[in-house]
Amino acid sequence: METIKRTKIVDLLKREDFGTMVNVKGWVRTRRGSKQVNFIALNDGSTINNIQIVVDLDRFDEALLKEITTGACLSVNGELTESVGSGQKAEIQAREMEVLGTCDNSYPLQKKGHTMEFLREIAHLRPRTNTFGAVFRIRHNMAIAIHTFFHQKGFFYFHTPIITASDCEGAGQMFQVTTKNLYDLKKDENGSIIYDDDFFGKQASLTVSGQLEGELAATALGAIYTFGPTFRAENSNTPRHLAEFWMVEPEVAFADLHELMDLEEEFIKFCVQWALDHCMDDLEFLNKMFDKGLIERLRQVTSTEFVRLPYTEGIQILEEAVAKGHKFEFPVYWGCDLASEHERYLVEEHFRKPVIMIDYPKEIKAFYMKQNADGKTVQGTDVLFPQIGEIIGGSVREENYDKLMARITELHIPMKDMWWYLDTRKYGTCPHAGFGLGFERLLLFVTGMANIRDVIPFPRTPRNAEF
Ligand code: 4AD
Ligand code: MG
Repeated sequence: METIKRTKIVDLLKREDFGTMVNVKGWVRTRRGSKQVNFIALNDGSTINNIQIVVDLDRFDEALLKEITTGACLSVNGELTESVGSGQKAEIQAREMEVLGTCDNSYPLQKKGHTMEFLREIAHLRPRTNTFGAVFRIRHNMAIAIHTFFHQKGFFYFHTPIITASDCEGAGQMFQVTTKNLYDLKKDENGSIIYDDDFFGKQASLTVSGQLEGELAATALGAIYTFGPTFRAENSNTPRHLAEFWMVEPEVAFADLHELMDLEEEFIKFCVQWALDHCMDDLEFLNKMFDKGLIERLRQVTSTEFVRLPYTEGIQILEEAVAKGHKFEFPVYWGCDLASEHERYLVEEHFRKPVIMIDYPKEIKAFYMKQNADGKTVQGTDVLFPQIGEIIGGSVREENYDKLMARITELHIPMKDMWWYLDTRKYGTCPHAGFGLGFERLLLFVTGMANIRDVIPFPRTPRNAEF
């Protein structure tokens, strides 16, 4: 075959220099046609759109044509021509073709219309489907949106450790990291494992949040964000929980509760607008195939003001709903941790817009949240979204050393692993605030997918670490 520099399909479809010889490489999605002419829909992942390859069968060897099956990888040299029937502006009249990789009929993606459950079982191949191509291109664009937003606002991208000895959320949901021989663990007289001879010389785990280290950075660089893998060994088999997910955590010195909420709202709106500006082809596909209200919902979020609602008022609204006969699975009372059904009632039925809930009872929130003067509530903020529930969890941090220590003592948090965190409160402490956004929760919203396992390439959930 003549050597011609490859052009990506996304670029070819924009060109109008018909008559030019081009090269395209990609995977066969479908092949149809008559005895004289065949039409191959070729996709190279650069866009949801396929380019149509028109093949005059007389020009090619029968042996070669036999190998052009669904899933096969092709290199095509041909003339770029104006298309009338392909649904695109341009198509290619094939002049030379080479099969780079054959694909026999054991290929699981022969037909369309597989269930999402089945596609999860073939997560190594599902990026080749239209749906997952769209989802993973959007995922990339959302990551770029996040970096763009914070970079434009003068935040520094700060890398916090993945292996850590502290439990930020204090929830005991950590995966341990060890090189010890699990069949021969040394224990002390009380039966506790001795970690002195372990790799790190102490018990270590995968991080549940970069926040504590993020606070160290914010009280030096002013405004930072982290964006990395996060791990939770919570045994929650739900459409919204992963054992390994990505979290974005900005932390800002001198910010108060209102500045925090403004940042949360501006950030999400920026990301959603970014999707509308940069991913329309993929969004239109998802809107058509999965969720007819998707684009409309995205537009709504960028143009409405989020409700800001104290927890206590939220409970009142939910109690009134119960009094009027609304049935929730879990009980509602002041002090309860809201279940996703409660959050979704507020967002989807009562307000019909995103809600930022604030001033939670301190008992249901983490030790580091700033205590309010009432002695009962803390300045925590959860951003609640339609379809998703909690998309962001954040707070103003308790910057007062004595108050923070009192809370740590009350909750019996082991201090020896926290000394460095407390130093921020000893040396030039300052008011500061931050939040964590679950990247996959954002993607659930932006793509309209119903299950969090379908917005991350290789989901890790209880009893599943395939691929
Ligand atoms: O509310 P969380 O637990 O807050 C924190 O970790 C804070 N340290 C963040 C901070 O203030 N810097 O988690 C933050 C967000 C949640 O709102 C949710 O979107 C996501 O992380 N998240 C999960 N996403 C997927 N799977 C899980 N198991 C998740 N747990 C939390
Ligand atoms: Mg939370």
